[in-house]
Amino acid sequence: MGRINVLDKQVAELIAAGEVVERPASAAKELVENCIDAGASSVAVEIRNGGVTFLRVEDNGCGIAREDVPRAFLRHATSKVAGREDLNGISTLGFRGEALASIAAVARVEMLTRTENELAGTRYGVEGGEEKFCEDAGCAAGTTVTVRDLFYNTPARMKFLKKDVTEGNAVAAVLDKEALAHPEVAFRFLRDGRETLRTPGDGRLKSAVYAVFGRQFTAGLIPVEYELNGVKVSGFVSRPAAARPNRSMQNFFINGRYVKSRTAMVALEQAFRGCLMTGKVPACVLHLAVPLAAVDVNVHPAKIEVRFLNERPVFDAVYHGVKTALNRDDAPRVMKLADSAAPAFPRGHSSAPAPFRMPAHEVPVRLYDAGTAPAPQAGEKGAMPVLSFSRPGTLVPPDIERDEPDAPEAEAPARPSAPRDAAPAQGAQASPAPAAGTEPEEKFVGEAFGTYIIVQRGDSLVFYDKHAVHERLLYEKLKKQGGASFSQMLLEPVTVTLSKEEYSAVLESRDACAQAGFELEDFGGGAVLVRSAPMALAGDDVAGAVEEIAGYLAENRSDLTTRKLDWLYHNIACRAAVKAGDPASPQELMDLVRRAERQDVRYCPHGRPVSFVLMRGELERRFGRSR
Ligand SMILES: Nc1ncnc2c1ncn2[C@@H]1O[C@H](COP(=O)(O)OP(=O)(O)OP(=O)(O)O)[C@@H](O)[C@H]1O
Ligand SMILES: [Mg+2]
Repeated sequence: MGRINVLDKQVAELIAAGEVVERPASAAKELVENCIDAGASSVAVEIRNGGVTFLRVEDNGCGIAREDVPRAFLRHATSKVAGREDLNGISTLGFRGEALASIAAVARVEMLTRTENELAGTRYGVEGGEEKFCEDAGCAAGTTVTVRDLFYNTPARMKFLKKDVTEGNAVAAVLDKEALAHPEVAFRFLRDGRETLRTPGDGRLKSAVYAVFGRQFTAGLIPVEYELNGVKVSGFVSRPAAARPNRSMQNFFINGRYVKSRTAMVALEQAFRGCLMTGKVPACVLHLAVPLAAVDVNVHPAKIEVRFLNERPVFDAVYHGVKTALNRDDAPRVMKLADSAAPAFPRGHSSAPAPFRMPAHEVPVRLYDAGTAPAPQAGEKGAMPVLSFSRPGTLVPPDIERDEPDAPEAEAPARPSAPRDAAPAQGAQASPAPAAGTEPEEKFVGEAFGTYIIVQRGDSLVFYDKHAVHERLLYEKLKKQGGASFSQMLLEPVTVTLSKEEYSAVLESRDACAQAGFELEDFGGGAVLVRSAPMALAGDDVAGAVEEIAGYLAENRSDLTTRKLDWLYHNIACRAAVKAGDPASPQELMDLVRRAERQDVRYCPHGRPVSFVLMRGELERRFGRSR
């Protein structure tokens, strides 16, 4: 006798259902997506016990006509696809015609529905795939589906469910994503009688983001609006200072569908390269509108993966869209005196600058009036050769500091702003506008607390953190030219003793160290010999730098070389940059400012802002002078 059985319908249904309905959250997702496909402007979801015993989804969409109701619960029954050609351009969230059938196979389901044209609605009951009743019912136009006792007939599946709280959280996460995917729909979510989400449905993504993630997250966002090669990107990315330790806050939506997209993720993170502290990633809520024919959503029953006909346009649009948004972002630089938290930076960060406060009576500001400030004489206290920022025992290579206008990054999109002046920096006292009417008048005002450079530019005062600016400029140079080109043979090699872990990690990564400018040799017994080092470091700094590098390498052994190099460049730039309190002349400071402006430097390599703007109008308002 043959051993192959044709499974009976019920068993086959249960197996198929397992692919679509894994847990209450997957049932909720399918039901909510049906509401959106039905054109609902309002969707309410209620769960009890994590959605296991009770899940209800109610909409004000188009409803289902009486004759279609039983059919909607059949497998492969759908109103969204009619023929093969429809699969080439799916514009609805559903298309497989199996969600209702799957849910009904593993639960007790009741549907209440009415179309606008029907006088009476329909109440339809189905349990474990078996129809129980189909009768008239009075109800509003729209559809309500109630799912009770999920997996009551599949104990194996039931066993895999987690605690109610966990299942409930998963449903809540689904609601968050759907609300972000459809700001035009008003969502309401009730969990064991308590409302935990309500979105206005006003069509504005920012309203939905605010409702889902709250005020603080929303305040740290930069808008993105971009179109390239038929791909539209819109939404928000986090400011570099509000970056996160993991990707859980990266939300991508393609044609109104929440998806996991590696292409979009990589593009996002590459656009942020150089703006973030190591180990931090950006957060985002980004909508991509891609031509329907260019994306295949029919990859997996849960419909969370998509395939692009061509990844490149998607990558490019996200990358340039985000980069443009980051470049255009002036918000963290413009501060209101009333808003002492600006520029936004998480509190508690060890190197975060103290929030700006309105100066009290006496502020240690060194004032230099353009035109009247005496040119510092050589040898005078505080006067130093331009561009040296020398510290005792530190050798600064002329190359790394050379003030040459950098060619614009080939990959960067054109900036919409006025063209920048690329003429070499002039002296600090030079106040006239350097370019033909494109740049506002600029004047060095002073340096406060040995740390902040103050420049008057047109109608604004701009404050710069001199360490942060310098660090960023050095970092860019190192990245561009490679640390090896700034390396210098040490007159006397330095021996550095390390822990065994660090020692082997350093020897493993000797190439990356060489690229960063450190030539290291195995000295045996846990010690390394440093033969050459980046010129910006000298004396004691070399041993200290190698010890720190070794610690990092031991902890991050699995990191890719590029990541390690990035960290090394950060580290070198930070060590070599002028420190708060280091003396510098007005010329040096203005030169730094001009280079920062020319290279459009906005953030230090750790993601902290390097400058902010205080508008004259804001000062006038403070002094009651505003007209
Ligand atoms: N809330 C609703 N409002 C109006 N019609 C609905 C609703 N839910 C389901 N339907 C109808 O029932 C049909 C079957 O729904 P079901 O979710 O099973 O399949 P689908 O949405 O077409 O595809 P998928 O399996 O990919 O979700 C839908 O095509 C739609 O016509
Ligand atoms: Mg569906």
